[in-house]
Amino acid sequence: MKISIFGLGYVGAVTAGCLTRQGHAVVGVDVAAQKVEALNQGKPPIIEPGLEDLLQQAKKNNLLKATTNTTQAIAVTDASLVCVGTPSSPAGALDLHFVRQVTDEIAQAVRAKGQNHALIFRSTMLPGSTLRLTTEFCGDLIASGKLQVFYYPEFLREGTAVEDFLQPSLAVVGTRDGQKPSAEFMQLFGETASVVNWNTAEMVKYACNAFHAAKITFANEIGRLGKQLQIDSAAVMALLCQDKKLNLSPYYLRPGNPFGGSCLPKDVRAINHCARQEGITLPMLENLLPSNEQHLRSLLRIIEKSGHEEIVILGLSFKSNTDDLRESPMVEVAQNLLGKGHKVRIYDPQLNLAQLIGSNKRVIDTKMPHLASLLQNDLAAALGQAGLIIAAQRCAAISDLTKSITTRHQVLDINGWPELKQLPCQYEGFCW
Ligand SMILES: NC(=O)c1ccc[n+]([C@@H]2O[C@H](COP(=O)([O-])OP(=O)(O)OC[C@H]3O[C@@H](n4cnc5c(N)ncnc54)[C@H](O)[C@@H]3O)[C@@H](O)[C@H]2O)c1
Repeated sequence: MKISIFGLGYVGAVTAGCLTRQGHAVVGVDVAAQKVEALNQGKPPIIEPGLEDLLQQAKKNNLLKATTNTTQAIAVTDASLVCVGTPSSPAGALDLHFVRQVTDEIAQAVRAKGQNHALIFRSTMLPGSTLRLTTEFCGDLIASGKLQVFYYPEFLREGTAVEDFLQPSLAVVGTRDGQKPSAEFMQLFGETASVVNWNTAEMVKYACNAFHAAKITFANEIGRLGKQLQIDSAAVMALLCQDKKLNLSPYYLRPGNPFGGSCLPKDVRAINHCARQEGITLPMLENLLPSNEQHLRSLLRIIEKSGHEEIVILGLSFKSNTDDLRESPMVEVAQNLLGKGHKVRIYDPQLNLAQLIGSNKRVIDTKMPHLASLLQNDLAAALGQAGLIIAAQRCAAISDLTKSITTRHQVLDINGWPELKQLPCQYEGFCW
């Protein structure tokens, strides 16, 4: 393809070099004449290992040119990649003025060209940005079929950018409706790229960066506490990383129930207490329980908003296949709803009140002494004739649910249980 790249900084310059290596003809565009000049000489405008060789080779093969003129660049290319900066405003907001300017210029140049073109945003932008920019600057071009727009987030890291571009850690492309682009574009994005809608692709980039920041901060907080306690934190983290089942894995990485149970809340409380006693401040660990509490409050708001008087809780213990009620979020939910005057019915086949002993029994005795009257052993009796079904666990088969559900039920899907959509009642989607 013939591709113009807007913004010749860390992302744009590397993209230019790597696309020419793949045989594409590239025209780089930047407002900084010095960067344009450098690229025209096959020199990298930034320091990045391996980039100079790529640019020199591109120059030799006559695959790379650069200009400050948008109209000229659009006239000779089929697609444009937008790689301009998206800095923070002084207040911390995302400053899109470079992207806005470039989008406006590209839209005008495409109108002047009169031929089909593709606009591919790579700059990191908050969800909704692609939709707003296209609506403002190129709605007419999209409506007439002259312009296709993609959001294609970049995941490269400075210092290993060339290698990351050629072997990306993740490839995601956003289209307006989430439909797969044509083969020609899939070749450009990578055959295995996941195709989602614009907003999702935009959000994935922020989720990845927030996750990376959270990982670093977590390791650093363990490091600070370890140093104070004279423990080798590097060894601790290396061992933590050996667990590929629960630690470095998709486990625990799905939005769903607030966490609970006999260990996580207790142990997070204890490590924070220990840090405070040692005079160490660990803001990330300190905010785990408050964040979990916020999640529970959000869930309660969603339940209240549904407007149902009758509530059915599927699964009361803190997770599936256990009768452990200690610090179970659903006990909190049930208590709260009862306090607000809702009629609550609970179905949890793992719970046998007669067999509960010790601290588990104390939860019931202190928090919900009347639990026995809310617990239903029979699923049909638990569901009743109407109400909001809070699916906190997969503790009933879909076929059994289907038999007893009515059109006056509504399902609240907390954990993303796809089969719930088949139920013959209202389903308002995964609640997070
Ligand atoms: N740097 C990274 O490692 C990295 C990785 C992934 C994603 N990103 C995202 O990619 C985007 C670009 O980042 P960067 O680090 O390459 O930025 P950068 O600041 O290094 O480069 C941006 C370039 O855009 C140019 N520019 C500004 N206005 C322009 C215009 N109207 N026309 C043409 N060029 C214009 C600037 O002169 C500059 O050369 C950002 O949204 C960033 O968040 C960066």
